[in-house]
Amino acid sequence: MKRLKNFLLLLAAAPVLAFASGAGPHLDKAPVNLADQDSLQRGARMFVNYCLNCHSASAMRYSRLQDIGLSEDQIKENLLFASEKPGELMKISMPKAEAKAWFGAAPPDLSVISRSRGADWLYTYLRSFYRDDSRATGWNNTVFDKVGMPHVMWSLQGEQIAHFKTVVDHEGKETHAFDRFELIKPGTVTLAEYDAQVGDLVNYLVWMGEPAQLQRKKLGIIVLVFLGIFFVVAYYLKKEFWKDIH
Ligand code: HEC
Repeated sequence: MKRLKNFLLLLAAAPVLAFASGAGPHLDKAPVNLADQDSLQRGARMFVNYCLNCHSASAMRYSRLQDIGLSEDQIKENLLFASEKPGELMKISMPKAEAKAWFGAAPPDLSVISRSRGADWLYTYLRSFYRDDSRATGWNNTVFDKVGMPHVMWSLQGEQIAHFKTVVDHEGKETHAFDRFELIKPGTVTLAEYDAQVGDLVNYLVWMGEPAQLQRKKLGIIVLVFLGIFFVVAYYLKKEFWKDIH
């Protein structure tokens, strides 16, 4: 009985516990829209240009990009290196051990990163690199402290530094909290444009995490329409069958 009581107490406290563990950095909402093919195509281009040199996406074939409206020629001309073929997987040639030696951590495969990290985390992470001379790469990140990845899109976003503030919580404990970024060297695009580009990239990463979801949603609508029509037919059939019995 006592055990049951403890269990119920724990159950009651669960939302509070969940809240406590969720007190991570503030995440911005990613503008995900899988119906926007232009955005997915721009995101695919960014992914190939900026991410694929270090990360692989080995669950993904280049030819699958036809699902987001790219033709085979467009894939060949814009997204492939000379040696690759559209049917190939998005692999990289960088050996894992060397990557680990260079960055302190091997760049993980990004095929399903949107499912493990979530779109909002990715969107915030890719916009939260800041200059930190104490790091080997010269970069740190407010969402992923001491990250081994350098800021690969710094030429677009520019260079920012992070300001921190000391906050005292209700128990009087002092903590170091992120306050704001300051752009010290502008990039080639404005911050709003950079946000939009990262939005496209994250949109693509979400699609890549489950490329079948576009078809699945279409199928779902067809099934619903079928059920709707079937319901009407079934209703009139039932009326027909029962009309002499009442
Ligand atoms: C110069 C090599 C390099 C490039 C280019 C690069 N990354 Fe990384 N990335 C890394 C390394 C190394 C790590 C591992 C960092 C760590 O664990 O400290 C990493 C980690 C990550 C993570 C965190 C993974 C996790 O959950 O632990 C994400 C997400 C990510 N990269 C996304 C990207 C995206 C998107 C791009 C393209 C815009 C990109 N990376 C380009 C080297 C790179």
